[in-house]
Amino acid sequence: VKFPGSHILSIDQFERGDVERLFEVADRMRPYAHRQRITRVLEGAILGSMFFEPSTRTRISFGSAFNLLGGEVRDTTRIETTAIAKGESLFDTARVLSGYSDVIAMRHPEEGSVREFAQGSRVPVINGGDGSNEHPTQALLDLYTIRSELMSRGRGLDGLRIAMVGDLRYGRTVHSLSRLLLLYQPVHVHLVAPPELRMPAEITEALRSAGHEVIETEALEQGIAGVDIVYSTRIQEERFASREEADLYRGRLRLNQSVYTANCEPNTVIMHPLPRDSRAGAQELDVDLNDNPNLAIFRQSDNGVLVRMALFALILDVADQVDTHARDVNWFTERRF
Ligand code: NCD
Repeated sequence: VKFPGSHILSIDQFERGDVERLFEVADRMRPYAHRQRITRVLEGAILGSMFFEPSTRTRISFGSAFNLLGGEVRDTTRIETTAIAKGESLFDTARVLSGYSDVIAMRHPEEGSVREFAQGSRVPVINGGDGSNEHPTQALLDLYTIRSELMSRGRGLDGLRIAMVGDLRYGRTVHSLSRLLLLYQPVHVHLVAPPELRMPAEITEALRSAGHEVIETEALEQGIAGVDIVYSTRIQEERFASREEADLYRGRLRLNQSVYTANCEPNTVIMHPLPRDSRAGAQELDVDLNDNPNLAIFRQSDNGVLVRMALFALILDVADQVDTHARDVNWFTERRF
């Protein structure tokens, strides 16, 4: 991907060098994300943020990342309040809105919709999730997190062993993460899902033909043994025909502290794109794991800001000017965790 001016629609656009460049810029964003320094490098720039599906982290971390670089955010969150509800095409909407923004982040319930929107846009568009298809920025922040968790354990990404657990059929985060792993040395991937919610065959085959070892299983205990990372996911109930159908799978693959202790190697990292479903009957990641230091889910969501700041800086071509428009902050910045 040639970052300046590019749309970011799929992980397939990335080569390994692009990912390394992004991570190197993300590392440099830490003092700004931690509010020790502020930069105004994007002063005057506008992010059009259009999220037509529920979102907390992705929408707000895109917005925070842009604000932290000194830019402003225009948020649109309900498709019913836009002219799309009057029958306007995504192309026309994009054509208009791109006149009001420098870059657009978008989430939409239909696969391929963000790509269609990008065709009408005169400014770069970043895919914040299109149906069950892809969620490229989540995969990038997930890999950034995996890298830093392994580094703190004295390891690199080579030889990575990862279990992806849950709704692998509709979960766009695991689709994008799998595509991203194609860029790395052969890794071991355990795919743990009920048969009806298996990873799409196209992705499993791509992993196998890239030389990765793929094991598919329905059994959580077997799937999470002998890995470095357990990546749990939520049943994507909004993609099922009915809530009752989603209920068939909810709560089947539940990781809690006792399952972890009995089956995982010491220091196995626990990840989840969030939100975890904390309702009784779901709890794919039990709250009794909250005191486990290997629970990386909130480090993951924190890293989302760094990675999205880096992406904006590269797309708007200011990555090397961030520090020249910066100063220390003078308010209280200490964080309790
Ligand atoms: C994910 C998503 O929207 O795909 N959430 C996120 O962006 N962190 C995962 C999910 O909703 O289950």
